[in-house]
Amino acid sequence: MRLTLHSPMDMHLHLRDGDMLRTVAPLSARSFSAAIVMPNLVPPITTQQMVRSYKERIMEATKGLEFEPLMTLFFKPEYDYDFLAKVREDIAAIKLYPAGITTNSQDGVDNFSLEALAPTLEAMSELGIPLCVHGETNGFVMDREAEFVPIYERLAKRFANLKIIMEHITTKRAVEALLRYENLYATITLHHLYITLDDVIGGLMRPHLFCKPVAKRPEDRMALRKVAFMAHEKVMFGSDSAPHPRSAKEAPGCAAGVFTAPVALPALAQLFEAAGVLENLQKFVSDNAQSIYGITPPAKEVHLVKELWRVPERYGDVVPMFAGEELAWRVDEDTTA
Ligand code: DOR
Ligand code: ZN
Repeated sequence: MRLTLHSPMDMHLHLRDGDMLRTVAPLSARSFSAAIVMPNLVPPITTQQMVRSYKERIMEATKGLEFEPLMTLFFKPEYDYDFLAKVREDIAAIKLYPAGITTNSQDGVDNFSLEALAPTLEAMSELGIPLCVHGETNGFVMDREAEFVPIYERLAKRFANLKIIMEHITTKRAVEALLRYENLYATITLHHLYITLDDVIGGLMRPHLFCKPVAKRPEDRMALRKVAFMAHEKVMFGSDSAPHPRSAKEAPGCAAGVFTAPVALPALAQLFEAAGVLENLQKFVSDNAQSIYGITPPAKEVHLVKELWRVPERYGDVVPMFAGEELAWRVDEDTTA
């Protein structure tokens, strides 16, 4: 059995820099025609020059592959209209991190009063720049996303023309809010469709499944699966593939992030097929995102074949999700064009 996906996109991706970029970027570029690239480098991407030179480094790392990096800026409340108008053509979105909430987010937002954020968000709204949000408070870890929902609601009401993307949602509460506000959209990861907190810490601890936000309860996963499997028009695939070297994952202080880039499409196909909704995968991995962002990715056909393959134990120094396990579908690289 074969499945052809037209211009699949990954709407939330960490590519890092340097050697890590050169290891992981080709793995995304062979499966996807475009991806929204996160700006949480050290230091974070905050200027037009940084966006442009990071994009060049990504293009260099993916040379020969049809792949468009869709760039983002790291949100700062200092960005004004003139700056944003100038950088508009270089970016697809701006990513807002609450200060200190996850990897390299120390320079994020610590004041969520609408007045503090209004000048930048109004300018983004006028310029049609989507706002991507890591929606967690610094409360109890299982409640962080639910506690952030009122902030999403305030933002959605006050900036009604701003497209707000709730990144990597993990809870039923977030799904409910998403459906209530016209200008809220969401990305959903592969790992949050597969796992619950039980898979991370219910038996032996699995550091390679530890991420932010942490995977939640079975009923949360069910709510995510429901909107993903029907390819609800407000949701799109964003892997949040977040590589860290083994030394940072298999350590007493384990870095957050699941590395899914090389397994994303096969594992999604397996999951959608098992749910009897394989025909909805195209919308989930491309069509919905094209409508939400108003973008047309490079035309690229990615062929999947139903054939068992064993996921490598490592890519460079990074352990992927499903390392050493078998998946039922694989990307047919010979016919990917
Ligand atoms: O698990 C995560 N890893 N969550 C994030 O929000 C950031 C990411 C990373 O950059 O490693
Ligand atoms: Zn992320």
